[in-house]
Amino acid sequence: MKVALVFYSETGNTLSVAELIQAALKARGHEAVLQRLVPIGEVHPGVKDVKFESLPDLAGYDRIIFGSPVQAFSLCPAMSSYLSSAPSMDGKMAVLFLTEGFPYPWLGGNRAMAKMENLLKSKGAAVKRAGIVHWTRKDRPKQIDSVVVSATEDIIA
Ligand SMILES: Cc1cc2nc3c(=O)[nH]c(=O)nc-3n(C[C@H](O)[C@H](O)[C@H](O)COP(=O)(O)O)c2cc1C
Repeated sequence: MKVALVFYSETGNTLSVAELIQAALKARGHEAVLQRLVPIGEVHPGVKDVKFESLPDLAGYDRIIFGSPVQAFSLCPAMSSYLSSAPSMDGKMAVLFLTEGFPYPWLGGNRAMAKMENLLKSKGAAVKRAGIVHWTRKDRPKQIDSVVVSATEDIIA
């Protein structure tokens, strides 16, 4: 199975989870390609129209994992901007994960997840949520394991 992992990461946390999911998929014999969103210039919360160095190439990928950090109590502007102007995702399955600084999902994670899900559904994708990793929690390793297992199982189901 061919899987694309489309993610944004400012300080490396979301990247590290994306890499673990990629490794888990590869260990099960699947092709998994990381496609990082790299904005042009600095992006601050509140910015709406983010431009990217290049856009993900999703031709040939019907299964896509999207990963993003929470910023300013919502979905970060880079992912929000990318998904708002992304092409149709008709027929594609999307599995979502987030990383969040605060320890509880009501401090931005729930809102960010709902926004990411709604944007993808508006593009026609079938959406599943793999979960949120709360970066400052003591049980972060357990949360990472759970998100990696869910994302891997959900995308190949
Ligand atoms: C500009 C900015 C805003 C942030 N706002 C929030 C927030 O509102 N709620 C939260 O839980 N974490 C917030 N964080 C923390 C990040 O969500 C968290 O550290 C995340 O894991 C970073 O992922 P990354 O390293 O892939 O960029 C913020 C981080 C940055 C840089």
